[in-house]
Amino acid sequence: EKGNYHHFMQKEIFEQPTVVAQTLRSYVRQLERTVALPQIDFDLSKIDRVTIVACGTSYYAGMVAKYWFEKFARVPVDIDVASEFRYRDPVLPYCGLALFISQSGETADTLAALRHCREAGQTIAVVVNVPTSSMAREADLLLPTHAGPEIGVASTKAFTCQLAVLAALAAHLAVKKGKMDEGEERSVVDHLLEAPACLNAALDHDEDIKAMAHLIAPARDVLYLGRGPDFPLALEGALKLKEISYIHAEGYASGEMKHGPIALIDDNVPVIVLAPSGPLFEKTVSNMQEVRARGGKIVLISDAEGIAEAGEGCMATIEMPKVHPLIAPLVYAVPVQLLAYHVACVKGTDVDQPRNLAKSVTVE
Ligand code: F6R
Repeated sequence: EKGNYHHFMQKEIFEQPTVVAQTLRSYVRQLERTVALPQIDFDLSKIDRVTIVACGTSYYAGMVAKYWFEKFARVPVDIDVASEFRYRDPVLPYCGLALFISQSGETADTLAALRHCREAGQTIAVVVNVPTSSMAREADLLLPTHAGPEIGVASTKAFTCQLAVLAALAAHLAVKKGKMDEGEERSVVDHLLEAPACLNAALDHDEDIKAMAHLIAPARDVLYLGRGPDFPLALEGALKLKEISYIHAEGYASGEMKHGPIALIDDNVPVIVLAPSGPLFEKTVSNMQEVRARGGKIVLISDAEGIAEAGEGCMATIEMPKVHPLIAPLVYAVPVQLLAYHVACVKGTDVDQPRNLAKSVTVE
């Protein structure tokens, strides 16, 4: 049931603070301030390489997780989309952990990749939202997201719940590998537990985003830029806009702009910049200036500090709460989802059932 919402997608976007909190309850011990995973019968400390495989939005969650696994646990991560992974004869490490991320747990390419890794002797971990799915049944380590049924074809709440689980998994691996001490673990837990309130604060900007959607709706092409763990969010923003509003969009790592895509910039191409204030902010600001110098129209999504510093001259700004970098990818998912949603509403497309798409892709 959609309740007071116009679409399932809208309802699912607004459910995120609740379902992320619900998911985190299974992955952190609030009193002890430690991360906790389901009971497992193998030794995670022996894992020294992780292979992540997924499709679409779930793949972007995996891209964010790569930053976390490498930063916290110092474990190298290979990541691939399932349709490429399964046909490229990948070299798999001895004692490797293969991690599959899927909302449905039935995506054909991801499931085939899982079976390939099982044959190759990898330990199989899955992050899935449907606990009765094929992937859930075939896992050694089942890490469920508790997002509840996701009905809108465009994935939203499953994505932020995947990120919550992956952050906890990265921290747990780091603890097991002796790369994270108790104090650092407590701080990761504290920041994760701030996520639901920060998601709520991001959702409070729904009206502002709705008001600016008409600036994006007439565009033929839109670019999204982000850096570091927010780069996959740029890809996710572009995917959401494409699939529900049918506007051509691309996500780029901010620093890649000058290596080609900047040639596309003119005053018809809005550029959405995802840039929380912090150590990478200055770099992104200089990329923004390159865009602006070529007549590009910028929508800056940042916190108050970032907007105060670089908001002038932008076509629009969307203010996010000031958040710890760990949870920025969860929080910045909200404005890109809402922007795609409201642009699709302005265009009058079928938000919950976009053309040519199915909720679960069970063919390769
Ligand atoms: C995008 C979207 C798709 C899915 C992809 C993988 O909004 O929904 O890109 O993320 O088809 O699906 P799952 O996660 O079920 O394996």
